[in-house]
Amino acid sequence: MRTQVAIVGAGPAGLLLAQLLHLRGIDSVVLEAKSRHYIEHRVRAGVLEHQSVDILNEAGVGARMMREGLLHHGLMLRFSGQVHRIDLTALTGRAVMIYGQQEVVKDLVAARVATGSPLHFEVEDVQPQEFDTDRPRVLFRSGGTQQVLECDYIAGCDGFHGPCRVSISPTELKLFERVYPFAWLGILAETPPASEELIYANHERGFALLSMRSPTVSRLYLQCAPDESLENWPDERIWSELQTRLGSGRDLDLRIGPILQKGVTPMRSFVAEPMRHGRLFLAGDAAHIVPPTGAKGMNLAITDVYLLAEALARHYRDGQDDRLNEYSATCLRRIWKVQRFSWWMTMLLHRFSDDSEFDRRRQLAELDYITSSRVGAQSLAENYVGLPL
Ligand code: PHB
Repeated sequence: MRTQVAIVGAGPAGLLLAQLLHLRGIDSVVLEAKSRHYIEHRVRAGVLEHQSVDILNEAGVGARMMREGLLHHGLMLRFSGQVHRIDLTALTGRAVMIYGQQEVVKDLVAARVATGSPLHFEVEDVQPQEFDTDRPRVLFRSGGTQQVLECDYIAGCDGFHGPCRVSISPTELKLFERVYPFAWLGILAETPPASEELIYANHERGFALLSMRSPTVSRLYLQCAPDESLENWPDERIWSELQTRLGSGRDLDLRIGPILQKGVTPMRSFVAEPMRHGRLFLAGDAAHIVPPTGAKGMNLAITDVYLLAEALARHYRDGQDDRLNEYSATCLRRIWKVQRFSWWMTMLLHRFSDDSEFDRRRQLAELDYITSSRVGAQSLAENYVGLPL
């Protein structure tokens, strides 16, 4: 088997890369360890930067997003029971789109299937090899048969736990990591969102977030312990804690509804440098993780593969490798700014077990600055809607 670009992973990064390459006349094969049903139903992030919306539209996969997605022009910050609105559109001229990652994945899988190009699910034992030579290849097993995929380039879009990053010699990689002493307990619930806009709450019992997926489905999160067991969280406790942290009664009409999904998301900041090793290019979570507070994970994956598709097109169309050579540095410049923002949002909104009165005062001062200075609010808004490519 031979292709131009072997893509490992069919999340938003791998599938979007396949589609962008297809539009540029470049062949690829996509390999995914999980089943189609699994990747189309795993509940993940839901906020798209305006630029991500443009890229998905340009890739020809934005029609359903434009119909069903919810355009948000602002967000709410709730501190000490008081709500402050950040008017994203007044501050930046931009908005964000609420549209679930699994919906993006469904649209991308449909587009891939329509091209008739290879997309293999439930492959096992994926091994990227020889990427420091001119003849890289990927070994894998599919339906019990051992396969060899020869290619010009390998794109590692296989997430934090995938085989690509770990196939690089540790001496060639520099890792940066910060693990936070808490996690998010997230639920998807069949209940209309209690607020038209997202509410990020800093409460003395911990952070909470009200988000949504549609006019009838809410997505809600609570800060919890990093090793939290779901057994400790029967539905009643989740709703009562959400009401305490987000507000209830006159403040907010948070209506209890059936919980469709429950999960715990660990919080970490992580970067692996560089993102290119010979003919292997890392993109998305394979190269970096951000804590979800800034809603940036899927957006970084989208911008990484957009740059990678452009760089590969320049190679195949113009015979120039300048963009491929610059890929890692160009991505990392943006990634570190997004890391900074995600860390900052995390530090602004959470309770730390060793919180001092100093930290509390610092958070309140930060909020006061954001809500009283246009420049302060604009900095948050500019980062939230997305920095330019
Ligand atoms: C979500 O809707 O899942 C969501 C929204 C905003 C965040 C994180 C997650 O910051």
